[in-house]
Amino acid sequence: MNDTFLRACRGEETDYTPIWMMRQAGRYLPDYQKVRGKVTFLELCKNPELCVEVTLQPIDILNMDAAILFSDILIPMEAMGALLEFHEGKGPVFPQTVRSAADLDQLIIPDPLEKTGFVMETIKLLRKELKVPLIGFAGAPFTCATYLIEGGSSKVFWETKKMMFTNPSLFHQLMEKITETTSKYLLAQAEAGAQALQLFDSWAGILAPSDFTEYALPYAKRIIEDCQKTNLPFIYFANNGATLLDHSITSGADVIGLDWRINIGDAIKRVGQKAVQGNLDPFALLLPKKELKARIQRLLNDAQGAFGHIFNLGHGIHQFTPPDQAKYAVECVHELSQK
Ligand code: CP3
Repeated sequence: MNDTFLRACRGEETDYTPIWMMRQAGRYLPDYQKVRGKVTFLELCKNPELCVEVTLQPIDILNMDAAILFSDILIPMEAMGALLEFHEGKGPVFPQTVRSAADLDQLIIPDPLEKTGFVMETIKLLRKELKVPLIGFAGAPFTCATYLIEGGSSKVFWETKKMMFTNPSLFHQLMEKITETTSKYLLAQAEAGAQALQLFDSWAGILAPSDFTEYALPYAKRIIEDCQKTNLPFIYFANNGATLLDHSITSGADVIGLDWRINIGDAIKRVGQKAVQGNLDPFALLLPKKELKARIQRLLNDAQGAFGHIFNLGHGIHQFTPPDQAKYAVECVHELSQK
């Protein structure tokens, strides 16, 4: 069992810096596309055998030090009763948006085993196969709320901010419902065998720091607190979060995820006695190998003083990344960080 990732999360000594990549199971891998060619994305998410297969691909092909459950942050939103579709080339769509009290009333707080049993089944199957730790995950409530309110991905988040600022009570009630759902969902993942938990707050960066602490962070904090009884390392990743870092540090997470917009050494000075995860620009994987290696060396040097460091990209791997470049990055991290 390779537990390097878990040791780094806890700030323990490791023989080298562990690495995994956000969105490591996905379209950049021809092996994923082969599986995906036979089913829709949602069918894939609900088929434990296929989820196991694609979760294992980046471990087998790229030699990652941790596996992340194959699923999506919007699966529990569908379990709440929101109609979810994935449109080719466009991404997730919620045809019935949540913008009124009546819309909110339609959403339930689902029993995670009853409504998302396929996720727990995937985790159980994976634990029998894996030789590296398994990360379970969910979307942070703010990020999930934006998808429900906007009806999909957005650039300006007009409807979300409109609700925050003109009907804060409705916004907070929606956040309450998502928060309770997410705590139950992550606790069920821990029960099924997840060995670390990550909250993805992909859209936190659209908020002013004072709005982040009022509308988003308290809910993430509550989930992290609820999950403390599992004793699993908890990772909080706020994308575009450099300006929110001093607040994210108070989330209660053991590991703070960093995007690429901040120097890792500067972040480490502020984070203190917590591990960090990140923070290579996903597009740096397109660099010629020599320059990619030099950049990885620089990042490792800058991260020297970390309480713990898990090497990762600053956001998900892009779908047009050549897999051999990602593989080379993994080799570089393993070789250059050897103690
Ligand atoms: O990391 C992994 O390898 C595990 C699987 C995983 C997926 N989505 C699979 C997926 C994880 C952890 C996610 C998280 C997720 N999903 C986030 C947070 C991380 C981030 O990127 O900010 C968000 C915002 C979503 C919502 C979502 N799902 C979007 C916006 C899209 C469409 C755009 C895109 O990136 O593809 C998805 C679809 C999705 N989720 C795919 C995969 C492999 C592609 C689906 C396909 O095969 O067509």
